[in-house]
Amino acid sequence: MSAYAEMGHEGSRCLCDLRSDTVTQPDAAMRAAMAAAEVGDDVYGEDPTVNRLEAVLAERLGKEAGVLFPTGTQSNLAAVLAHCGRGDEILLGEHNHIRFYEAAGASVLGGVSLWPLPHGTDGCVTAASVMGAIKVDDPHFAVTRLLCLENTIGGRAITLDAMHAPANTAREAGLSVHLDGARFFNATTALGCAEEELAGIADTVSICLSKGLGTPIGSVLVGDAATLTRARRLRKMLGGGMRQAGIIAAAGLHALDHNVGRLVDDHARATHLADALLGMGVTARAATSMVFMQAPADYDALNAHMTTQGIRIGGNSPEIRLVLHRDIDDAALDAAIDAFKQFYEHDHLIAISDKPEPRAAQNMALDDSE
Ligand SMILES: Cc1ncc(COP(=O)(O)O)c(C=O)c1O
Repeated sequence: MSAYAEMGHEGSRCLCDLRSDTVTQPDAAMRAAMAAAEVGDDVYGEDPTVNRLEAVLAERLGKEAGVLFPTGTQSNLAAVLAHCGRGDEILLGEHNHIRFYEAAGASVLGGVSLWPLPHGTDGCVTAASVMGAIKVDDPHFAVTRLLCLENTIGGRAITLDAMHAPANTAREAGLSVHLDGARFFNATTALGCAEEELAGIADTVSICLSKGLGTPIGSVLVGDAATLTRARRLRKMLGGGMRQAGIIAAAGLHALDHNVGRLVDDHARATHLADALLGMGVTARAATSMVFMQAPADYDALNAHMTTQGIRIGGNSPEIRLVLHRDIDDAALDAAIDAFKQFYEHDHLIAISDKPEPRAAQNMALDDSE
């Protein structure tokens, strides 16, 4: 029986949390794997489970080495700082997480300048915009050192061709390439490509274990041995050197074995949810595990209604983001769809008479940062 069916309909209790795939709870099997992990002091390089996770992911992605980080933000930051020095510049999509949601850490802590590029129609930055942004060797300019790509981005899986073009341009100009692959396996699942194929486009790849893969914590950076040695030093400097981190790594190894293959279910449920919303006359689109739906003018009324039904939804920024994940089964999704139906087919007509002001865009953007 599903968690939703077991709990029944209980007012404000959260039965289906669509805000993000970061909200998942480790299940009993993952907790058992964590409890049973063989551990050691990872700062000494003596945690066998961490060493195994780093080696397994590096090998799967065709890289020489891996380093476990507590978060994707720290993994991205260490990667950027391992590639760049003070006065260097990175090129990246204007909507990339590193630009928008990581507190400008590369600039604040590393003296690295961020040069935003527009996204092409396929969601990726174009070869032409990369070419146009690479600075000539002139003392007026920062030294363009790195191109950062992101896949998936806004839930969208970018095709290998779309990524190869800017990456090749960058490499020909002597730049390195970093991929923020927070949802790397959602991308490979959607593209149906080999993990090595996608990872091969970049020199370093950051992968989050705590999103669609469902672990409580952890990201792994993979790449060549020399860059990863620098990243390991930077991890210590940034306060990310952990001790018996095997309990985290064990969750990651468990997730790699059990939670990659099931991402296809999240993607199918996202499509089902988008179709159901379209059936209610609501503009909606699915992208891997995410659904972006047009917010009603009375977003707060929708949010309040969903909350009373035990359903949590993303912020209104200006679309509402809904994310499917391993803690949302068919029964929980059906409950969410029923709640949307009640709103759009009945409650909405009552709520609309008391229309609140739309929320400020700046605050709303934060809701979709995870
Ligand atoms: C694309 C992307 N990169 C990086 C991160 C940062 O991960 P963390 O929250 O573990 O710092 C996120 C988090 O949502 C993300 O969506």
